[in-house]
Amino acid sequence: MSTALIDLDDLDLFVSGDPHAAWARLRETAPVYWNATADGGYWALTTYADVSAVYRDPASFSSKDGTVLGGSYRSATDTATGQMLICSDPPEHRLLRQHVHKAFGRRMMDEAARHVRRYLTDALDRLVADGGGDFAADVSPNLPAGLLAAMFGIGRDDAFHLLQLTRTMIGFRDGEYVRDNGEAMTLVGAQVEIFDFLADLLDRRRSDPGEDLVSILIAAETNGRKLSESQILYNALNVAVGGNETTPFTASAIVETLIRHPEEERRLHADPSLVNTAVDELFRWTSTNAYVRRTTMREVTLRGISIPAGETLTLWNSSANRDEEQFPHADRLDLGRTPNHHLAFGVANHRCVGMSAAWMEITLLVEELARRRLRFALTGEIDRLRSNFMLGIKHLPVELVASG
Ligand code: HEM
Repeated sequence: MSTALIDLDDLDLFVSGDPHAAWARLRETAPVYWNATADGGYWALTTYADVSAVYRDPASFSSKDGTVLGGSYRSATDTATGQMLICSDPPEHRLLRQHVHKAFGRRMMDEAARHVRRYLTDALDRLVADGGGDFAADVSPNLPAGLLAAMFGIGRDDAFHLLQLTRTMIGFRDGEYVRDNGEAMTLVGAQVEIFDFLADLLDRRRSDPGEDLVSILIAAETNGRKLSESQILYNALNVAVGGNETTPFTASAIVETLIRHPEEERRLHADPSLVNTAVDELFRWTSTNAYVRRTTMREVTLRGISIPAGETLTLWNSSANRDEEQFPHADRLDLGRTPNHHLAFGVANHRCVGMSAAWMEITLLVEELARRRLRFALTGEIDRLRSNFMLGIKHLPVELVASG
């Protein structure tokens, strides 16, 4: 494959193509790659060394424009800059982070695990009783729904409603979610509805505080200064989107991975003590958050290529995690792999604040699959999200097969 033909903006590559072949080619021949697009272009970094070095230098590579290309919170200037964790740089980032981090404390995670376990086992019971179903629609969403029900102190229906909205916001370029008024308005509309939902919750928590995320953000104080209303809303949104749009796609990708690697699945079923290394390897392998975005704050030189200030860079986690220079036999799934310093959650100051929650959710899933010795076979086509940001599976039709 010639690198000139590689377009990381071509969503067909992510729906029906083989992005891993494209990334391997880029790592080998053009690790600092200019990906031209109709309205300009961006730099794509694909090796482990480059991706991790840029993550570790927030002074030169800013998060102020958010992590999604052409997306999410941006208008001409980004209204979320400096207000929302993921779109802020030091020192604001550190202050916001310490408040959001409090919502992921031990007590909250224990409570969340109880919710997630209940939602997950109910969903798996139903799937088993039916002999199969659509894992991506019937089971995976229960993981974030359980987490967010606990973290936001909301009921099951509200948690699933929030999930539907965040799915539309991230999948606004996908035919299943785009509304009649077009992609841009779908994105804006979904964001407005999420903000309305959160603003309503904010009102209720102001008069009746609890131990949930919004109450924690209301009470947050730095040197006597409270967070503004928009900071509270943006960061609650950040957790809702981060929580909803990652682990369910990872869960479905894990089921697909185990179907395609029956020998590793048998290994896991035979030795449940593998769960910890298996979960890390499955995060490395699936890397559902394909890239994050940064903006250069000064002229930089990467591998001899000079990049001016103000340019857009994309750091491809999903490619870095298959880099042979870092991972021996990187293209081999090895559920016992150790060490495994993958970049699925990023690294350095912005490293995923929800990582412990994601670990808890995915560990519960993998434990449950291993304990019940559940094995699946595909009964139809896998339907993937039209996105190069989230490597998401929308529909995963499966049937149960006898474990052997
Ligand atoms: C498989 C699951 C997950 C993956 C692969 C993932 C991936 C990532 C990555 C790569 C980043 C770094 C962004 C950057 O450097 O610009 C990040 C940040 C973040 N994630 Fe996750 N995430 C996951 C689960 C979660 C969950 C469960 C939550 C919340 C409940 C969450 C909330 C966030 C937030 C709020 C940030 C921003 C942190 C900061 O900027 O300091 N994520 N995530």
